[in-house]
Amino acid sequence: MAIVEKEREFKFTVEDFNVLRKMSNEHSGIQVPDERFDMFYSRLSKRVRRLGLNDFKEYCAYLHNHHDDEFTEFINAITTNLTSFFREQHHFDYLKNVVVPELLQRNRNTKEISIWSAGCSTGEEPYSIAITLLESVPKDWTVKILATDLDTNVLHTASTGIYTEDRITDLPTEILKRWFLKSKSSPNHVKVKPELQEIITFKQLNLMQEFPMKTPFDVIFCRNVLIYFDRETKASLAKRYAKLLHSKSWLFIGHSESLNQICNEFELVTTTTYRKNT
Ligand SMILES: C[S@@+](CC[C@H](N)C(=O)[O-])C[C@H]1O[C@@H](n2cnc3c(N)ncnc32)[C@H](O)[C@@H]1O
Repeated sequence: MAIVEKEREFKFTVEDFNVLRKMSNEHSGIQVPDERFDMFYSRLSKRVRRLGLNDFKEYCAYLHNHHDDEFTEFINAITTNLTSFFREQHHFDYLKNVVVPELLQRNRNTKEISIWSAGCSTGEEPYSIAITLLESVPKDWTVKILATDLDTNVLHTASTGIYTEDRITDLPTEILKRWFLKSKSSPNHVKVKPELQEIITFKQLNLMQEFPMKTPFDVIFCRNVLIYFDRETKASLAKRYAKLLHSKSWLFIGHSESLNQICNEFELVTTTTYRKNT
């Protein structure tokens, strides 16, 4: 696709786009195709306006000179955070019907289950994992969920656990009644119950950097994140996930993603669900 530069409020050239997408790629691994030219303009023009700059050339210079202050804003503006509660329901069914029963056997001495939601966005994924686990694990077990993302804005939303009512309209009534409260502070909003928040730790983590966690997980969710990375990055990330998983443990990836010919340390056990070979 040829990029078309248009007359707009702030001049945005292909050269500016190339500078910005290179920065984004080097920091986050996110590949930015030509099709994102207009998206970059619409997301970042808000920053250009707020900073009182004249065009994107000035924004590129500003980003370069005020790296510590502006870089987080830049990354927050360009990430794609689409998510929902129980997105790809079949993963939660598999978790409940296959993974949990096996973990209840395997971890019976420690009575602990630990799960990582990598690229958790606004939190719907880790809360869905928490609901699934708390509904299927005995009360005397400990469930720990680590939920991480690069984007600090989405993490803020995730940690409040407050969502507009339209985010939960498709959820079954039993789940709504059991796990959500009407928000006292915001009308037309719901809040997840504290029991869910108690078992989740939200943290900023850039998947391109070394993982600070040393203890292996029983399950890793990294769904609809790999899609933004090139093949080499996907392969190295999958290898690093294998290192951070217990033997024969599980990795869930997104509906349009695959590890086929990317990483041979996992076998496909059902749709977009992998299990470590060893
Ligand atoms: C489309 S959302 C997926 C949310 C959720 N996993 C799901 O499937 O519903 C992708 C998330 O990956 C995050 N992300 C992108 N690059 C990342 C990186 N290098 N490190 C950590 N998170 C990243 C984005 O900020 C975004 O919130």
